[in-house]
Amino acid sequence: MEKTKLEIDIDGMMAELETLAGFSDAPAPAVTRVVFSEQDRRAREYVKGLCRAAGLLVREDAVGNTFARWDGVAPELPAIGTGSHIDAIPNAGAYDGTVGVLGGLEAIRALQRSGFRPRRSIELIVFSAEEPTRFGIGCFSSRMLAGLLDGSTLGDKDGKTLEEWRTAAGFHGELSGVALPSGHYAGFLELHIEQGPLLEREGIPLGVVTAIAAPASLRMWIEGEGGHAGALLMPDRRDAFCAAAEIVLAVESAARSTGVVDTVGTVGVCDVFPGAVNSVPSRVRLEVDVRDTDLARRDGVLAKIEQAVADVSARRGVTVRTEVVNADCPAACDPGVVEALARVATAHGLAYRKMVSRAYHDTLFMSRIAPAAMLFIPCRGGVSHRPDEYAAPEAIAAGALVLAEALRELAS
Ligand code: GLV
Ligand code: MN
Ligand code: MN
Repeated sequence: MEKTKLEIDIDGMMAELETLAGFSDAPAPAVTRVVFSEQDRRAREYVKGLCRAAGLLVREDAVGNTFARWDGVAPELPAIGTGSHIDAIPNAGAYDGTVGVLGGLEAIRALQRSGFRPRRSIELIVFSAEEPTRFGIGCFSSRMLAGLLDGSTLGDKDGKTLEEWRTAAGFHGELSGVALPSGHYAGFLELHIEQGPLLEREGIPLGVVTAIAAPASLRMWIEGEGGHAGALLMPDRRDAFCAAAEIVLAVESAARSTGVVDTVGTVGVCDVFPGAVNSVPSRVRLEVDVRDTDLARRDGVLAKIEQAVADVSARRGVTVRTEVVNADCPAACDPGVVEALARVATAHGLAYRKMVSRAYHDTLFMSRIAPAAMLFIPCRGGVSHRPDEYAAPEAIAAGALVLAEALRELAS
């Protein structure tokens, strides 16, 4: 039988993206929406309202993962999941994560409008937080869904625990109840902006992700000796910030030393204590992010950083305590789901390229419990995690359409 043509209501979806971007702690066009903040709460309410308006059954788990279900004809079968996140790092843009949430919802609505009745249920997942801003670890809630993290030791940098944050936000129930068994979903698909330049540069509308690079992150506490910036003589100093500066440069040079573009290293957080112009820094806290598509090479960079830290610490007489927050394996996407996306793109006359995701995503962890893959769309200049992040309506519409068609195929 001829399949009904699906229509994406891109104007409606762009309006929803704009409304969602308005729930922000930063002035437009910047978006800051940290998990369990008031703006996060308002954004969740907005998205849940849209899901309910589409007739979906909404449920939340103990850490705020949100599931909006469209029951299939055979609701006893494992569902097909799709979704992404709506939290945003400080000073971010409007499309990271949100395109996968509202695109997933629009894909479901397009299927509903077409008269399609899924055999398997289709479930939109809004992961509670993909970004590491609050708890220092990316994807805490999909790690918990995949049973890889129990969440009991998570806290923010001021010592306020996940337990305190989530209950204050209205999420109760046992943390141990968050994990889903393997086989809970028959498939999982995440639509996302590429966050890199390749699709735009090559003029290709879609990326079908075959693997996700292996991320690692470290926290370091560097302790030296403080004192009066005028009176403490230079030969007597054990300046924690000077030591930190050397470590920051060592991270850069360790990442560059592989000679491969797939290796990246960043120090994105540096807190200096006491933070006064006329006081020698006594303590510094760094947060370090290292990634690679190749696990052994990524671990080689971590080893180089560890060596550099030991050298700096001995030479400058400071102590450095390092905590490995996470050092994950890369994910391989499921060949069957990858081929379903590729087939649908081709059927719609849309060119695609297979590619690796250098950014991490909740799919990194969903792939542990479900056959999973991702669909990328181009974003302007490859820019992301910045207020000027932008994806064109045509690009978003193409992504939502291919997502809808793939959901139709997998849920039939
Ligand atoms: C996700 O936001 C990442 O940092 O890759
Ligand atoms: Mn992000
Ligand atoms: Mn994202």
